[in-house]
Order: sequence, then structure tokens, then C-alpha cells
Amino acid sequence: MVNATVGIVGGGQLAQMTYLAGVSLGIDVVVLCPDGTEPAVRAGATHVAGVPERFDDLLDLARRCDVVTLDHERTPTDLLQRLSDAGYRVAPSAEAARVGRDKAAARVLAQAHGVPVAPWIVTGELEQVTSFGAVHGWPLHLKSTTGGYDGRGVWPVRSPAGVPEVMGQSRGPLLVEPTLRLEHEVSAVVVRSWSGQMVTYPLIETIQVDGACREAFVPAEVPQALRAQAGDVAAELAEAIGLVGVMAVELFVADGRLLLNELAVRPHNSGHLTIEACATSQFENHLRAVLDLPLGASELRTPAAAMANVMGGPDGADPFDRVVGALAVPGAAVHRYGKAPAPNRKLGHVTATGLDAHQARSIANRSAAALASRAAS
Ligand SMILES: Nc1ncnc2c1ncn2[C@@H]1O[C@H](COP(=O)(O)OP(=O)(O)OP(=O)(O)O)[C@@H](O)[C@H]1O
Ligand SMILES: [Mg+2]
Repeated sequence: MVNATVGIVGGGQLAQMTYLAGVSLGIDVVVLCPDGTEPAVRAGATHVAGVPERFDDLLDLARRCDVVTLDHERTPTDLLQRLSDAGYRVAPSAEAARVGRDKAAARVLAQAHGVPVAPWIVTGELEQVTSFGAVHGWPLHLKSTTGGYDGRGVWPVRSPAGVPEVMGQSRGPLLVEPTLRLEHEVSAVVVRSWSGQMVTYPLIETIQVDGACREAFVPAEVPQALRAQAGDVAAELAEAIGLVGVMAVELFVADGRLLLNELAVRPHNSGHLTIEACATSQFENHLRAVLDLPLGASELRTPAAAMANVMGGPDGADPFDRVVGALAVPGAAVHRYGKAPAPNRKLGHVTATGLDAHQARSIANRSAAALASRAAS
């Protein structure tokens, strides 16, 4: 589809970078979000005011575009289904969005396709958590099945004594799994179009601090056999859900083997480095996929690349007040989302390429560190 308009539910940084990828292809982007201060609107995307939970707002968006896609997981999947039943193109589909929204649904899907997952249950009963811990060993990780992000909605607990407090904080039943000794965390980013063309990106390694992604880099420092296996898992799950658009498959490496963590059925934080590192970014390929255009190549155009997230510091000050220092680091590509600063909020990222991951990480981290407020460092 040429001369097309893509509608995105949500106007955050993912929508912003998708919008920017569309500019050079002449693809228009309309975003549905509450107000005009959101990153994609500030960047120049057309704004439809509304919220993802209201069907009339979704209709308002759908009427203005050729296909509706997503920037976050907050859209109720029954509303996505209603949109598609009403004849509008929705990518990803309601069913695909459901496995991206619900950590339990992602595990069920993985198991149906022979993809290993850690032992897990979903329960609202204290005794069931306690007996799960007795069988599989403490500590445990307790998680909200939906609505979590950046480690919010994930609670490590050391012993049964810690469980009631988590149950008090969470709404609804919890997904329970053992705390794993993680050797690596990796993200397999895959893109698939309406016609079924599929491209997988080189496997990306991620580093989490307090449950939130702090860094990502390529190539992932895991054996080649695991890299290939991760790509195969992503491709198989993409086919299984009839993916249209980008999906990131978050995988743990524990005891030398891959375990599924969760699916993000949209462009993903780990894939931001594809802008500088790959022949075609995840954002451009997302647009191409949802419009059924030929997908671009995903291979690296540099030996290695790394991305460091820029988070709001504890003092609530804007890290970008110090942007001059970040720009002074040669090779650093600084991305600012234009969001209001708040502690631990993702406000931007820095990417660097290099001859190896170590070099790329050191450039990206030096630039990101120049943005960190004194209180945070
Ligand atoms: N069972 C586990 N054992 C050890 N660490 C875990 C476990 N589950 C989660 N973690 C850690 O917590 C992080 C966040 O978990 P998860 O990906 O489930 O949450 P999230 O907040 O939805 O993440 P995202 O920011 O990717 O949306 C993981 O990346 C990992 O570092
Ligand atoms: Mg995660």
C-alpha cells in the first residue's frame, strides 16, 4: 500500500520513532492519545485525542487510517476484535495482542509450540504460592499477568513471609515462578507482514537493573547455537500467532538453555539500536509489515552496537539539561523523547556502534552517564 496512513494507538516513544521512520517513506502516521504533549505528537504525528479503552475513540482513529497498530499493551483486546469485525485492518490482530498483553497466555502459547518456560502457576491463593515455593524452591518471582512494564508488576520474594504484601499490592491473581539464575537475557526481534514475509533481527542481549531494561547490545554474547535457536523460536511463534508487524521475544538463558520470558507484540526497547545498527530499523519494518510492503533487510551494518536507556533520576530533574555532555562523546547517537521527567521514567536513549560490543557499550554508557543527575550517580 503506497500513500498510506498508519494509525497508532498510543503516542509514546515507540510511536514517535515509528512516525519518524515513516517520514522518509512518505507514510503518514496518526496517533490516538490523550493529549498533544506525547512524544509522537511533539515530533509531528497527527493527533486524535482519546483513550484506548473507549471504542468510539478507536473508531475515530480507524476511520482516518488504512491500518491500526499499537504502541503499548493497554488496548482491551475485545475492542481490537470489534474494530476488525467492523471491517478495519488491525495489526497485530486481537489474538496476537492478547499473548503480548498476558504473561500467562504467552507461556501457554510457548508450551504448545515446545518452547521451554520456567515452572509457573497463576494463583490468588497464598497457600498455593507457598506450596509452589516448597516444590520449586525459594526465592520466587511474583508477577501481575497483565499491565506490568519496566519491572513494575514484578516482585521478587525471598520467603512465604513476603507474599501477603505483594498480594495486597497486586490487582488480581499472580503469575508465580522460581527466581532463576540468569546467565543472559536476550531479545529475538522478528517482523512479519500480512503476506507472510518474515525477517528476524540479529539476537540482541539486554541488561536489566531492578527489573527495567538498562542496556541492549549486539551481537549477543551467547553461543551461536542459542542465537540460531532464539531466531527459530521467534519465527515459529510469529507464524503461530499470525503476527503482522514487529514482535520481540524476550528469552532468558539459564543453565545454558533458552526459556521464554514474555512477548512484546510491537516494536521493543531492545530494538532501538536497529536504527543505527541494521540495514532497516524495527520501526521502518513495522510500517512496511502493517502496510504489506516488502520488508527491509535486518542484517547488521556494523560489527557491533549498543544502546543505553536514559531514565529520570530520583530528584525528578531532566537529564537532558545536561545534553551537551552527552553529545560531546564521539559516536554517541542521542535520542530524546520529549517526555516530562519523573524518577525512573524512560526519557531517551543513546546508541553507539563499534568494532565490538565492549567498545559500543562503553561509548553509549559514557554518553548516557553524562546525562545522569548527580543525585543518581
Ligand atoms: N523468574 C525470574 N527469575 C529471575 N529474574 C526474573 C524472573 N522474572 C523476571 N525477572 C527479571 O525481571 C525483569 C522484568 O521481568 P518481566 O520481563 O516479566 O517484566 P516487565 O516489567 O513486564 O518487563 P518489560 O519492561 O520488558 O515490559 C526480567 O527482565 C528479569 O531481569
Ligand atoms: Mg520484560
